[in-house]
Amino acid sequence: MTAVDNKQPSPAAAILHNPRRLEGKVAIVTGGSRGIGEAIVRAFVHHGAVVVVADIDDAGGHALAAALGPHVCTYVHCDVAEEADVDRAVTTTLDHHGRLDVLCNNAGVLGRQTRAAKSIASLDAAEFARVLRVNALGAALGMKHAARAMVPRRAGSIVSVASVAGVLGGLGPHAYTASKHALVGLTKNAACELGEHGIRVNCISPFGVATPMLVNALRQGGGLGDADQAAASEEEEEVEKMEEMVRSLATLKGPTLRAGDIAEAAVFLASDESRYVSGHNLVVDGGVTTSRNVIGL
Ligand SMILES: NC(=O)c1ccc[n+]([C@@H]2O[C@H](COP(=O)([O-])OP(=O)(O)OC[C@H]3O[C@@H](n4cnc5c(N)ncnc54)[C@H](O)[C@@H]3O)[C@@H](O)[C@H]2O)c1
Repeated sequence: MTAVDNKQPSPAAAILHNPRRLEGKVAIVTGGSRGIGEAIVRAFVHHGAVVVVADIDDAGGHALAAALGPHVCTYVHCDVAEEADVDRAVTTTLDHHGRLDVLCNNAGVLGRQTRAAKSIASLDAAEFARVLRVNALGAALGMKHAARAMVPRRAGSIVSVASVAGVLGGLGPHAYTASKHALVGLTKNAACELGEHGIRVNCISPFGVATPMLVNALRQGGGLGDADQAAASEEEEEVEKMEEMVRSLATLKGPTLRAGDIAEAAVFLASDESRYVSGHNLVVDGGVTTSRNVIGL
């Protein structure tokens, strides 16, 4: 007689036989037109989900949906900072698919990388509010409207993309850091409330991924201009420079952090494999926020 209850196999056992870990699920991915969001959309579709991309980059979103196929991916224009847009994205999803299983709050902005913006002494209040509005309020609005779809079914998974800047100071601009700390806190609070309804709420905190957001910021380097407005960089040299910087800072040596690594974490938190995980911040950072090899171990 063993202590293990074999009558209730964990869903992970079934998943081992089913490579499509999100089969039958309906998901919304905000900021899914490019970067980490695009990788999440592709991974969700690969694992059998039907995905609605909600973004302000209409050209990128439509192109991605067309590439993946309209039966598995559609696009809806949605500025996450505008409640009417978020409401419409959820309503459209319910109208077309009848349910919402997963919300991935991925949309985010780094904020302007001007020299002045880097100092708290010359804080631009309007820009601070803009970053908080997209990164924190945007996720809260997503949770609000996802909850109205998920609560009646007593099921659902909300996965937000926070950041290592939501764990430690010194890893991002002031407004961005404040917004991501807010998002980690919001995740825990929402998990408390929505857990009562069988809904899980988690977040992922990536270290640096060489997406347009980060590469543009690096390009502007001490920088002038607006990292959010700059065109996406395809230049390999800049990507390599960014990836080398990230590799040098991570205590884990070997792998290079890529958007696909964050997508894998999102698949796990969206799927039933993580059915007992809620209120968690899954840090994907090669040890940056937990370890520093100062004595040469
Ligand atoms: N790249 C990194 O190193 C890194 C690290 C930690 C966390 N993150 C977080 O990951 C998420 C994705 O970042 P990324 O690096 O892929 O950035 P990105 O700039 O490459 O992509 C962001 C996407 O969000 C969309 N977006 C921006 N504002 C929006 C709004 N108001 N409403 C809807 N969509 C909007 C953009 O159009 C774009 O498609 C962000 O939340 C970011 O803070 C990124």
